[in-house]
Amino acid sequence: MNEFRGKRAIITGAAQGIGFSITKELLDKGARVILNDLDTELIEEARQRLGAPEHLITFPGDASEQSNGRKMVELAVAEFGGLDFAIANAGLTEMGDFFEFSESKLQRMLNLNLAGSFFLAQVAARQMVLQNSGGRILFMSSVTGVQAHLDTEGYGMTKAALRMLAKDLGPRLAPYGINVNCVAPGATLTERTLSEKGYAEAWGKVIPTGTASTPQDIAKACLFLLGPDSRQITGQTLVVDGGWTNISPLPPELYS
Ligand SMILES: NC(=O)c1ccc[n+]([C@@H]2O[C@H](COP(=O)([O-])OP(=O)(O)OC[C@H]3O[C@@H](n4cnc5c(N)ncnc54)[C@H](O)[C@@H]3O)[C@@H](O)[C@H]2O)c1
Repeated sequence: MNEFRGKRAIITGAAQGIGFSITKELLDKGARVILNDLDTELIEEARQRLGAPEHLITFPGDASEQSNGRKMVELAVAEFGGLDFAIANAGLTEMGDFFEFSESKLQRMLNLNLAGSFFLAQVAARQMVLQNSGGRILFMSSVTGVQAHLDTEGYGMTKAALRMLAKDLGPRLAPYGINVNCVAPGATLTERTLSEKGYAEAWGKVIPTGTASTPQDIAKACLFLLGPDSRQITGQTLVVDGGWTNISPLPPELYS
């Protein structure tokens, strides 16, 4: 039995990286997906990489705009007959010195990471309630929303807020059979992070499992939370980081 066959999903920021891998996993398992991204060229590349499958619809647009969330839900209803999964994956990663951090940088992150995720969840939940057939909502957090790190104050704040949003919406939507969870990836080898020289090697040295995650590692965790085996899990955050956030530094002069 394939629990994903025929399921209908929306995923934002998915032309590459983690979102692309989630899309691929879902399509491979027979789900139907609306793939959103801001970058039309990347969308076209993604479509080709996925083999232009019949069950893929692309939706170019800014995921921070509330109206785009609504349009995607309308598209899912028109083309697929409804919606089962909403995955708010799109997120901006802006780091920088707290003392110099600009208002425009922070605002862009708040608009996408928070407002985009919040309002996608809202329109998706309305539709799922209407269908009366339950559903799943996933937010993409980060280890920076779990532990403190230098120069990630703004980004980390948005990612911690997503964990709280899942916590709040878990009980709020449980009576409708809608589960809401969060995945918090650690360093992950996406096109964006791999453009940083030495990224994989440097992270491999400090992650207990000896390696940064692949986008597939994150996608598999997401599929668990989207599937029926997680029916009793809601309002939670699943950290996928090779054990990195479990380590607190010991004084090296005592324990080296
Ligand atoms: N890569 C990592 O190491 C890592 C770690 C922790 C958390 N995350 C989170 O995972 C998610 C995906 O990260 P990633 O590194 O795979 O992706 P990424 O940063 O490479 O971006 C993925 C896609 O999002 C699109 N995008 C950017 N702004 C958009 C917008 N306003 N609307 C729609 N699409 C937009 C980009 O065009 C891109 O194709 C993000 O929320 C990120 O914060 C990533």
